[in-house]
Amino acid sequence: MTDVPWVNVPMNDLRIQYTALKDQIDTALARVIENCAFIQGPAVQAFEAAFARYCGVAHCVGVSNGTDALKLALAALDVGPGDEVITAPHTFGATVEAILQVGAKPVFVDIEPTHFTFDVGQVEAQITPHTRVLLPVHIYGQMVDMEPLTDLARKHGLRVVEDAAQAHGASYRGRRAGAMGDVGCFSFYPGKNLGAYGDAGGVVTDDADIAARVRALANHGQDPAAKFLYREVGYNHRMDGFQGAVLGVKLPFLEDWNAARRRVAACYDRGFAALEAVTCPAVAGYGEHVYHLYVVRVPDRDALAAELKEAGVQTAVQYPNPLHCTPAYAGLGYGRGTLPECERACAEILSLPMFPDLTTNQVEHVIDRVRAHYGCS
Ligand SMILES: Cc1ncc(COP(=O)(O)O)c(C=O)c1O
Repeated sequence: MTDVPWVNVPMNDLRIQYTALKDQIDTALARVIENCAFIQGPAVQAFEAAFARYCGVAHCVGVSNGTDALKLALAALDVGPGDEVITAPHTFGATVEAILQVGAKPVFVDIEPTHFTFDVGQVEAQITPHTRVLLPVHIYGQMVDMEPLTDLARKHGLRVVEDAAQAHGASYRGRRAGAMGDVGCFSFYPGKNLGAYGDAGGVVTDDADIAARVRALANHGQDPAAKFLYREVGYNHRMDGFQGAVLGVKLPFLEDWNAARRRVAACYDRGFAALEAVTCPAVAGYGEHVYHLYVVRVPDRDALAAELKEAGVQTAVQYPNPLHCTPAYAGLGYGRGTLPECERACAEILSLPMFPDLTTNQVEHVIDRVRAHYGCS
């Protein structure tokens, strides 16, 4: 393949964002050092207040990462051994890991193939007397159909914990991800729509008691008013000052970055519209997608990925292995064939480059190469 034009199109490029915000970020980081406010501190507090406002909730607790956010949310709701948590199999392993780490049992509901989120219509059939929590995952940047889900939770007396790790700023009928459940959990892993410069996460809620419990649990279960007075066994899951500082600088730009992601997605959608082989991500009518990832379905995923690589286009597969079929989670009792839509998706999905700073030239190159692959120029 010698005559394929080569344009470098990475999946993401964090350096561009840093270059644009360098002065503000360097200043904010220097302030943390000058104050020696390395763990929590004023930068974290300021970010917590700003992110709670952004999500439209009363409280945000900055924590160590998205996995710990989920763990803390479940622990704060007293979820533990003997309890079941209904969630999606098509997610990053952390979702299921967190459920297992508090001692509860994950129960899977297969995905709905056009949006990749779990099929809310199948949730009720999985509810048992042991079910405590419904844990929707807003996968790829689009929210789960939350109204029927929260109705179900109310009907059965269950709590809702949102895994919003991929959905900063996504909305459902005007309400932001994280604000519709009892608790919302975010990851600020560097590559996320809102990313820190290390591991970080956040727990958002309108419930003051849940927020206080999460805050205490994240700080070794200590009484907030009395250091070294341990009210319960907790964790060390605090956010550090550098992460709060970086996130505080970046948050005001999130809306623009999400809008830029939507513009890239719209270009891809238009560019692939005539290709029968390519199924573009579907946007549900109830809200705004923030395209953490732009994931297409194609019949020959590996061949397309290989050809794009030849042309300088990086791609990824999120996720190639159905979670329930991986060694760590095989013991949950879901063999191959039990969650067919998830398994089918894992074989067909391909994530194309998606970040706010992609240039028109880069986006057009991706579109041209995909179209050429399918014989359409
Ligand atoms: C859906 C989902 N849940 C949870 C997590 C865990 O977040 P973290 O990596 O910050 O622990 C991630 C991170 O990629 C995620 O994508």
